[in-house]
Amino acid sequence: MELSREDEAILKGEKGPRHAELMRILVSLGDLNDASRLIPVWSVQLSGISFKTMGIPGTEFLEDAAHEVRFAVPTTVNPAGYDVGGPGVVPASAEFKEKQQRIIRSLLTMGAISTFSCTPYTTEYSPPPGAHLAWAESSAVIYSNSVIGAFSNREGAPSALASAVLGKTPEYGLHLPAGRRAEVVVNVRNGREIRFSSLGAYLGKKLGSRIPYLRGVHPVADEMKAMGAAMSAWGSVPMFHVENVTHEASVQELAGLESMEVGPEDIQAFEKSLGLNAESPSLIAIGCPHATKGELEHLAKVIRERRDGKLKDGLQVWACTNRRIIQDNPDLVRYLEGAGVKVIQDTCMVVAPIGADYPVIAVNSAKAAFYASKKSFSGQKVLYATTEELIDRWA
Ligand code: F3S
Repeated sequence: MELSREDEAILKGEKGPRHAELMRILVSLGDLNDASRLIPVWSVQLSGISFKTMGIPGTEFLEDAAHEVRFAVPTTVNPAGYDVGGPGVVPASAEFKEKQQRIIRSLLTMGAISTFSCTPYTTEYSPPPGAHLAWAESSAVIYSNSVIGAFSNREGAPSALASAVLGKTPEYGLHLPAGRRAEVVVNVRNGREIRFSSLGAYLGKKLGSRIPYLRGVHPVADEMKAMGAAMSAWGSVPMFHVENVTHEASVQELAGLESMEVGPEDIQAFEKSLGLNAESPSLIAIGCPHATKGELEHLAKVIRERRDGKLKDGLQVWACTNRRIIQDNPDLVRYLEGAGVKVIQDTCMVVAPIGADYPVIAVNSAKAAFYASKKSFSGQKVLYATTEELIDRWA
């Protein structure tokens, strides 16, 4: 890979050993992927900042780094392990909170922006189309590539941190037109009968990391957010195209591509396999990825129309979202809280340590369903259904 004189100097240690170590990460990644150069990034999104996923080694690494380096570009961060800015609903222990605070202190010292959200694109840090990014949160990567028209590979924790400090990323994969081409045509039958979160999970399983071109559906932004999150969780799809909807769909060359058919019966079979009929949940959690204003409005509408604006006492209903959306929509938040919903910022149902307190969780997100059941996260029993079904049945 060709390096600028400045990058060579950093690699040789002129800015100190930590900068050199981080430059080595980017250079190795670039060499491994045949990148020809490093390019500047508009922003970085760090994921895995919950103590639940980072553990002690990661915490200590960040503490060391915070003595030595600062972020060179806007760097937003994923949800933390508890609702650090309130309202104090998440049942994390004092010890867990103390360790989480150590992580947050290190990140803020280096210059991180306290978004604590997997949807930076719903804040003032949303990138413009065409921006090159080094984002690590898979649901945000696929949204930025597909819906916004920005360019990001899915970074790991070390490369995202290196990009935050050095302001650059190797130019390969999704940063180049060749890495963004559709690889499989997906013809969806009776698209109106399909839940996009389920379709994303189904396609993620089938496609692995291949980029689909979808026909027969016309999703809005929130539906693409749900579909992309599921696609990149159940598989590792980094981008999708939707005919007549997404930025780059019209320039795809489809001749000769493999194609597949998907219909409601395929998706319903998949939904059944997620175990909707298991026991009753102790928690209903909405907002994976973090709920947008539109999704909170939808939840409010469902509660108003089906429960006369008031949920049953006793069952916890969480709506996980971010600080910006809470600040910008005080009336909506007040309505939801009045109805009995806990509107939660800075964390989510997956990265918070809630497995023991809520062993059975009900979600409307196929991504949350994927992770919450994993032993390495909360090992919960998971029920998966639409917001309407969850409220009708249990709330
Ligand atoms: Fe976001 Fe947590 Fe889901 S980080 S994408 S709400 S698992």
